[in-house]
Amino acid sequence: MAKPRKTSSTQDKPANVVPAVDEAILKAADLLRGGALVAFPTETVYGLGGDATNDKSVAAIFEAKGRPSFNPLIVHLPSLAKAGAVAAFDDRARSVAAKFWPGPLTLVLPRAADCPVSLLASAGLDTIAVRVPGHPVAHALLNAADRPVAAPSANRSGAVSPTHAEHVAEDLGDAVALILDGGACPVGIESTVLDLSGETPTLLRPGAVTAEAIEAEIGTLEIDDGGDGVRAPGQLKSHYAPETPLRLGSEDPRPGEALLAFGSDVPPGFATVLNLSESGDLTEAAANLFAHLHALDAGEPSGIATMPVPEQGLGRAINDRLRRAAAKD
Ligand code: TXA
Ligand code: MG
Repeated sequence: MAKPRKTSSTQDKPANVVPAVDEAILKAADLLRGGALVAFPTETVYGLGGDATNDKSVAAIFEAKGRPSFNPLIVHLPSLAKAGAVAAFDDRARSVAAKFWPGPLTLVLPRAADCPVSLLASAGLDTIAVRVPGHPVAHALLNAADRPVAAPSANRSGAVSPTHAEHVAEDLGDAVALILDGGACPVGIESTVLDLSGETPTLLRPGAVTAEAIEAEIGTLEIDDGGDGVRAPGQLKSHYAPETPLRLGSEDPRPGEALLAFGSDVPPGFATVLNLSESGDLTEAAANLFAHLHALDAGEPSGIATMPVPEQGLGRAINDRLRRAAAKD
């Protein structure tokens, strides 16, 4: 049962909620650069931000949200010019960005060559979701942080999206270093998600920028908003799977096989070993998952065996992705 939400009052604000004045924004930017998580207002909902180029920060976002699987995250930038360094814009993308940014529209585009954003933020996909928010606090924070910021809505998985700083504090508490209080979010529902990575422009999530307004710019859209408007990773048409066959929880080496290890008890005899986390840390393991799979795959081993990962916390998300990667077709 959802707890009744407190109304805004200055007296009982938790210590990590601060008014979004210039000084606090600079502090939040420093925290982001240091790898911490910061919640901030956008025109749609509050975002739970982390340095999108830092695998560990991105893993910490999934952990704080308690997501059982790695849904890809939206990467926030202060301008179209900066977005061009992480995503590949074609003419359609440039025209909708010029029309609706800054604003409540997210574009799914191919990752740029040399995209610095963590593969975990894209959940291993070769596309990336980018958005330039219009909220002045978000804009100032992104400028000061001077790096792409991954930010899902700042709520635990399955809870309602937060439109006030107090919602974030109640839901995420200490998981976030600082919550910038910018008052109520004016739009209040998440951004429209438009997929321009393929031939047919596809609306994945409806939002304040309407299908009609987008169609006026680039023509007819396909609507594929999967019921509740959010595509689960399993419903995505493509998600990352290595070329090399994967054997789950297999610790007996076959000739030429590579091992995706976990923990300190690594079995001998594998041609190549990459360890998700020698100390058995699930946040570190999540941060390494997609990068290690890519690296092992690139070596073209006969197969990739994986050691068991505990089915708890982020381990559930890791196992979910490994099972998907191992499933044939
Ligand atoms: O308004 C918003 O967009 C807020 C604020 C904080 O900016 N953020 C937000 O993020 O709603 P999140 O993580 O709750 O929603 C991300 C949505 C999901 O539906 C996800 O599946 C989709 O974007 N998405 C992200 N990357 C994608 C990709 N590469 N391909 C397809 N869908 C993607
Ligand atoms: Mg959300």
